[in-house]
Amino acid sequence: MNIYKLIILLSYGFVLLVTKHKALSQSCITPPTKPNIIVGYYPAFKLNSKLGIDYNISSSITHLNYIAFSPNDLLNGTGPFQVFQNKLDKFNDLTLYKNKNNLTFKLILSVLLPVNASDFIKFPPLRTGTYLPTDQQTKKFIDDLTNITTNYSFHGIDIEYPYKLPCFQQPTLPQQQINFSTIFVQFLNDVSSRLKPLNKLLTVTAGQYPIDGISPANISFINIQAFHLNINSAYSSAGIDNIQKIFSRWYNYVDKLQLVLGVEFGGVVESVISNNITKDIENQNLTLVSGSNLKFPFAAEIIDDPCKNTSYAYLPWKNLTTFLSPPCYTSASSPWIYGFDNLKTKQSYIYQQYPGVSTQFYYVSYDDFQSLKYKLDFIKENASGIAIADVTRDFDNLMLMNFISGNITPNSPSPENTTPNIGAIVGGTIGAWILINVLLVLILFRRYLKKKQYEGVAQMY
Ligand SMILES: *[C@@H]1O[C@H](CO)[C@@H](O)[C@H](O)[C@H]1NC(C)=O
Ligand SMILES: *[C@@H]1O[C@H](CO)[C@@H](O)[C@H](O)[C@H]1NC(C)=O
Ligand SMILES: *[C@@H]1O[C@H](CO)[C@@H](O)[C@H](O)[C@H]1NC(C)=O
Ligand SMILES: *[C@@H]1O[C@H](CO)[C@@H](O)[C@H](O)[C@H]1NC(C)=O
Ligand SMILES: *[C@@H]1O[C@H](CO)[C@@H](O)[C@H](O)[C@H]1NC(C)=O
Ligand SMILES: *[C@@H]1O[C@H](CO)[C@@H](O)[C@H](O)[C@H]1NC(C)=O
Ligand SMILES: *[C@@H]1O[C@H](CO)[C@@H](O)[C@H](O)[C@H]1NC(C)=O
Ligand SMILES: *[C@@H]1O[C@H](CO)[C@@H](O)[C@H](O)[C@H]1NC(C)=O
Ligand SMILES: *[C@@H]1O[C@H](CO)[C@@H](O)[C@H](O)[C@H]1NC(C)=O
Ligand SMILES: *[C@@H]1O[C@H](CO)[C@@H](O)[C@H](O)[C@H]1NC(C)=O
Ligand SMILES: *[C@@H]1O[C@H](CO)[C@@H](O)[C@H](O)[C@H]1NC(C)=O
Ligand SMILES: *[C@@H]1O[C@H](CO)[C@@H](O)[C@H](O)[C@H]1NC(C)=O
Repeated sequence: MNIYKLIILLSYGFVLLVTKHKALSQSCITPPTKPNIIVGYYPAFKLNSKLGIDYNISSSITHLNYIAFSPNDLLNGTGPFQVFQNKLDKFNDLTLYKNKNNLTFKLILSVLLPVNASDFIKFPPLRTGTYLPTDQQTKKFIDDLTNITTNYSFHGIDIEYPYKLPCFQQPTLPQQQINFSTIFVQFLNDVSSRLKPLNKLLTVTAGQYPIDGISPANISFINIQAFHLNINSAYSSAGIDNIQKIFSRWYNYVDKLQLVLGVEFGGVVESVISNNITKDIENQNLTLVSGSNLKFPFAAEIIDDPCKNTSYAYLPWKNLTTFLSPPCYTSASSPWIYGFDNLKTKQSYIYQQYPGVSTQFYYVSYDDFQSLKYKLDFIKENASGIAIADVTRDFDNLMLMNFISGNITPNSPSPENTTPNIGAIVGGTIGAWILINVLLVLILFRRYLKKKQYEGVAQMY
């Protein structure tokens, strides 16, 4: 290769490197204002790993939603109290950990309800096909929840409203004229009337659909799990544009100070068909590949599609980071391509082509430092807190939790200016370009002089 070509190539490489480096450090942003309420869900019932070793709980969490049992555990008539007592080891671990680390969070008993209509009908308060507050099983169910709360020093109860995702089947009740939400609200009000005299909290976990008839005075706040919005839609998983719409629907029912925005530390993987993937991401026009047994070789967890027409998978943040480059995690390793949608969703995404299929892609939309910054700015004006769907999904040293809490740890990205410094990037790039050209001209000029000298020498002989 000719020396001039090599120099030009190297100089272009250098300019690219400088530009890329600037773009990276620019996206490591200063942590935003810490919200007043930080709820962390803790799914004790399905954890195999060990608290204090495999994951830790941030001292910034204000409410820990302890999920002691799965919805299925509630269906066989044993009752929540007995089920809770059968699973005391995990609870004792948590209590020890809390005391040892002087954590001050309020401990909330989080109750998940079945999402499947045929199961829901077996759920004790609905067993008779309607809500009967005086039914023996309904009474025992609420007694049990109350007893757990008092006996194990919980500060309150959180109850999940199962109508969170599209394609939820409302139970087929004998009295068809009774709305599902009506029954749910009656149940909530009964639980509330038991907790109020004990000075305990009642919170609700809901989703994109508001609960008709809810009594704001009977609950402390509602965690809106506004993610998985890509289920049966062409959108990304938790775009801020859709979250704004969901919150404005909820404002018809409760005050914004009673709303907490749910987020997930991870990404939802979907298979999409596209002739122009960048355009379809930009337009939020993601066409799902149909098929209920699609394969996601890089993701361990498959998410059930409630609509039964495609398949999804889940990648916790700690697994996602293996495809991304530290410290800012705004570039991906091959075959993934990284992007941040600055137009509509303010979410990060990665995608890759299906091996050998040019019109089919894996697409993952997820929250990271950049998107959480937008969500926390939204919370500051429109809600009172943030709710993390599973606190065990963070990366080592509580990377995302520390960002939310406004702390910096050695593992989290170094803070930079919040406002992207475009001037510095352009200036730096142009500066580097000019420097290289000056060097190039100098080198060429020296060579030219040398050549002239030799020519002169040759002419002499
Ligand atoms: C019901 O489920 C609980 C928890 O899964 C279990 O401990 C209990 O043995 C079951 N009871 C019956 C009667 O099946
Ligand atoms: C917790 O508090 C006790 C007493 O105030 C203190 O001795 C201990 O070091 C604290 N532990 C942690 C992990 O901060
Ligand atoms: C609901 O759950 C039952 C048993 O758990 C299962 O047989 C049924 O297929 C489920 N229905 C749907 C629509 O998922
Ligand atoms: C729960 O508490 C009630 C009183 O509030 C008591 O009558 C009942 O025996 C308790 N049940 C259990 C399982 O502890
Ligand atoms: C605590 O649990 C026991 C059963 O183990 C029950 O008899 C008692 O009533 C409970 N206490 C309260 C205050 O609910
Ligand atoms: C049931 O809900 C729908 C929509 O939320 C509402 O229009 C209807 O009036 C409700 N029916 C009853 C009986 O509350
Ligand atoms: C709250 O719950 C009670 C029952 O415990 C009910 O009578 C009341 O209507 C509910 N709503 C409000 C706004 O208090
Ligand atoms: C959305 O995607 C479909 C399928 O790829 C395509 O036919 C359609 O033109 C796209 N619409 C827009 C507005 O890009
Ligand atoms: C994809 O669409 C964009 C416009 O959004 C266009 O600039 C680009 O050339 C298209 N790419 C291909 C491969 O067609
Ligand atoms: C995800 O990460 C965990 C540990 O952080 C690891 O055990 C697991 O194998 C990873 N899963 C995948 C699919 O990479
Ligand atoms: C998925 O299924 C639901 C009903 O189960 C249907 O309304 C919807 O159109 C389907 N979506 C796609 C993308 O096929
Ligand atoms: C959790 O904290 C303990 C004690 O500080 C530490 O040894 C452990 O490595 C931490 N675990 C993770 C996953 O960061």
